[in-house]
Amino acid sequence: MATKPPQPRSRRLGVWLFGAYGGLATTLVVGTRAIAKGLAQSQGLTTETDIASGIAWRPIDKMVFGGHEIREGDYASSAIEINSHTGSLPTELIRKLKRDLLSQSRNVVTGVMPNAGPAITKLADGKVNGKRRAAAKLRSQINQIKKDILAFKKKHKLERVICVNLTSTEPNLRMGAAHKTLEAFEKAIDKNDVKKVRPSAIYAYAAASLGMPFVHFTPSNSALTPAIEELFENNNTPFMGCDGKTGETLVKSALAPMFKYRDLRVLSWQGYNILGDRDGRVLSDSTNKQSKLDSKDALLPSILGYPLHTHVGIDYVPSLHDLKTAWDYVHFEGFLGFKMSLQFTWQGCDAILAAPLVLDLVRFADLAASRGESGALPHLACFFKRPFGVGEHDLHHQWHMLCAYLDRVRSDER
Ligand SMILES: NC(=O)c1ccc[n+]([C@@H]2O[C@H](COP(=O)([O-])OP(=O)(O)OC[C@H]3O[C@@H](n4cnc5c(N)ncnc54)[C@H](O)[C@@H]3O)[C@@H](O)[C@H]2O)c1
Repeated sequence: MATKPPQPRSRRLGVWLFGAYGGLATTLVVGTRAIAKGLAQSQGLTTETDIASGIAWRPIDKMVFGGHEIREGDYASSAIEINSHTGSLPTELIRKLKRDLLSQSRNVVTGVMPNAGPAITKLADGKVNGKRRAAAKLRSQINQIKKDILAFKKKHKLERVICVNLTSTEPNLRMGAAHKTLEAFEKAIDKNDVKKVRPSAIYAYAAASLGMPFVHFTPSNSALTPAIEELFENNNTPFMGCDGKTGETLVKSALAPMFKYRDLRVLSWQGYNILGDRDGRVLSDSTNKQSKLDSKDALLPSILGYPLHTHVGIDYVPSLHDLKTAWDYVHFEGFLGFKMSLQFTWQGCDAILAAPLVLDLVRFADLAASRGESGALPHLACFFKRPFGVGEHDLHHQWHMLCAYLDRVRSDER
């Protein structure tokens, strides 16, 4: 039977980045605009590969960026800084995109940081695009965030806005009754109980109240609490998180199943990560680091099916900038109890690995919203270290979940 060719989504899509001038957000904006203008290839994007063919993805040149930040800057100067550190965003490309980047920067406004912890508070210079905002109560902060995003949507005549959290990793927040139900959380907001909230929660809550899909790319635990999940469900809005799976954890989730398939018993898995940059500096604070460690350490016993000795270390090495290095030592036992080992070294540029994932996730969230899907999106598990509501950590199984979803979409679009 002849099938209808997929119709590309022709209207413009807003991409709202919390943490708009960070290394990852800047690489995403530069990369997306470079692809849109034919200055770069789409290498690294799952949505441009064969498994995603036949689906009406939002064209890359239809995406408009905006966001919230707590530091003064613009995309061009942030890109120049990245280039001076790692060379991952070539000078010539930045030069060709300069005007375009300055125009996307005009959509960035001052964010909020209630109870953000000292490591993040130290980053802030209180104004963005020359504008300062007075301190306000939690409810007014939420209203302001919503107003900012709606103004962006209206100004650029956008069909939809996808919100993405790319802010610095926050210290873990102790979960309590206020995070369990929407009613309790809203009471805490209205009582201005700042200790129960972090910036990620404000951003996720604002996105959920506006019915805008939300991608939580960081490990911060206060964004996707049961209370906020309830609001996404009430508003029939899709979301997914958390913490993008881009480096050492990606390799782990691909390799650990191999030991299981061959009945090689893993005795210990030691992993050490060294990285620089602002992200590394924030993670050098032990409370912020714990959020990341929790997210990186959870998957091995779940994949292998038994408890084992594991360790994940993260150290800040300023001169590395975004060129992260991970060294993993896997000690395992085979036939006749003989002990052997595997070691690997992963040297990746964090933002170069993560930016195409974020772009894919924006397209998947857009697709889900256009299909009327709501709540968590389990088929996106392969993109996350701690996929929301999914116990499956084996990358191969997660990949099959994604492929099965894409088959369903194709058959629905026929
Ligand atoms: N491979 C990767 O790059 C990767 C993978 C998984 C997760 N992540 C996570 O993504 C996030 C971004 O990574 P990055 O390398 O771009 O870090 P970054 O430090 O360069 O960027 C974070 C940005 O968020 C801003 N920010 C902090 N608090 C904010 C707030 N309350 N409101 C608005 N802006 C705020 C900071 O000023 C900074 O510009 C981090 O949490 C990181 O752990 C990154």
